[in-house]
Amino acid sequence: MDQIKRGTLQTQTFYERVGGEPTFRRLVHRFYEGVAADPLLRPMYPEEDLGPAEERLTLFLMQYWGGPRTYSEGRGHPRLRMRHAPFKVDRAAHDAWLRHMRDAVDELALDAESEEELWGYLVYAAESMINTP
Ligand code: HEM
Repeated sequence: MDQIKRGTLQTQTFYERVGGEPTFRRLVHRFYEGVAADPLLRPMYPEEDLGPAEERLTLFLMQYWGGPRTYSEGRGHPRLRMRHAPFKVDRAAHDAWLRHMRDAVDELALDAESEEELWGYLVYAAESMINTP
């Protein structure tokens, strides 16, 4: 949705359109509940406490979709493929990651267009993170 403000055309970001920070917090929190119970994914996470990892992914997704740049202020350029290099991201890990994301996206109950946009990105990003045949 576009709105005219002080003579400039301001396009609402996807971040704003889907409800801002609370929406991304719900998404990633639900996702990490899945990860915490996943026998393949859970051992991949180096820290005992998944809280910091949850925070990083939340801030990354908020930034990607047009929200605050807090992720890069703390972590620098995302370089996600490089950051995943220490982990064995094969087809099975990809499938598990996306399965938990799918559950989390479903629970947001977004409008169909937003859901498709979000899901399309996650599918594409997950594919590009595979680093082990
Ligand atoms: C395809 C399967 C994937 C697996 C198995 C996986 C696994 C992991 C693991 C084990 C970590 C380290 C946890 C941490 O300390 O933060 C991590 C970090 C991270 N992942 Fe993934 N990931 C996958 C896909 C993705 C995708 C598709 C995205 C983006 C849409 C993503 C975004 C991130 C971010 C932002 C971090 C934190 C980076 C940092 O600042 O250090 N991951 N991932």
